[in-house]
Amino acid sequence: MRTQIVAGNWKMNCNLDESLHLLNALKLKDFTKAEVEVVIAPPYTNLYAIHQNLSDSSIKISSQNINENEEGAYTGEISPDMLKSVGVEYVIIGHSERRAIYNESNELLAEKVTSALKHGFKIMFCIGEMLDQRKAEKHFDVVKKQLEKGLFHLSASEMKHVVIAYEPVWAIGTGETASPEQAQDIHQYIRQVLAEKYNQDVAEQTSILYGGSVKPNNAREIFAKKDVDGGLIGGASLDADSFAEIVMSF
Ligand code: G3P
Repeated sequence: MRTQIVAGNWKMNCNLDESLHLLNALKLKDFTKAEVEVVIAPPYTNLYAIHQNLSDSSIKISSQNINENEEGAYTGEISPDMLKSVGVEYVIIGHSERRAIYNESNELLAEKVTSALKHGFKIMFCIGEMLDQRKAEKHFDVVKKQLEKGLFHLSASEMKHVVIAYEPVWAIGTGETASPEQAQDIHQYIRQVLAEKYNQDVAEQTSILYGGSVKPNNAREIFAKKDVDGGLIGGASLDADSFAEIVMSF
């Protein structure tokens, strides 16, 4: 049975006070009934304080990115060891905003994956097509290439440290969610690609999350799909009630 996960990507939101306020509101929620791993990805500046305030909670911490180097002259960057030191367990790699705005190439992402694996992180690897690629019906080709170039240098056994997050770029922050059928369609394809590259066990054991305008009113239908194993949530993760409703949607 693969892990079901709901992760909140806070992106560039929440100063320290706002982060702790949101965290305290989340800690008051009872997630124990949901057989779901709950993960939050605050901004770097708040990781230490969040880590200090999570010792009595099952909520896990993710970073939103990671530098592929060990340490040194990389102004503005954060190393794997720095993230380890503040209790980070997951790292989001390849989010479409990193790919599009900060030009993170497939090659760079592959290096980040290798480094994150070496440091014992669980990797949340993001893939997804742009609107024009969807309209041109190239979405299957796009996600396959992103997997091949960014992730498929890993061995079958290394893949057990990986979660895939499919986030159609045209659904991120737009309020236009992929339909449950669209999500199932491409998640099933991703699982088929995993089976072809590796084997059926890897395909069955890899959690594939959906991201892109997941809200309390659409989460249940999307999560009910056979090959959807949870969600990577943006906007709705900034409101404790909404995020909790999404977590309890399984
Ligand atoms: O990483 C999750 C994010 O890209 C989805 O954002 O606001 O559409 O839920 P949102």
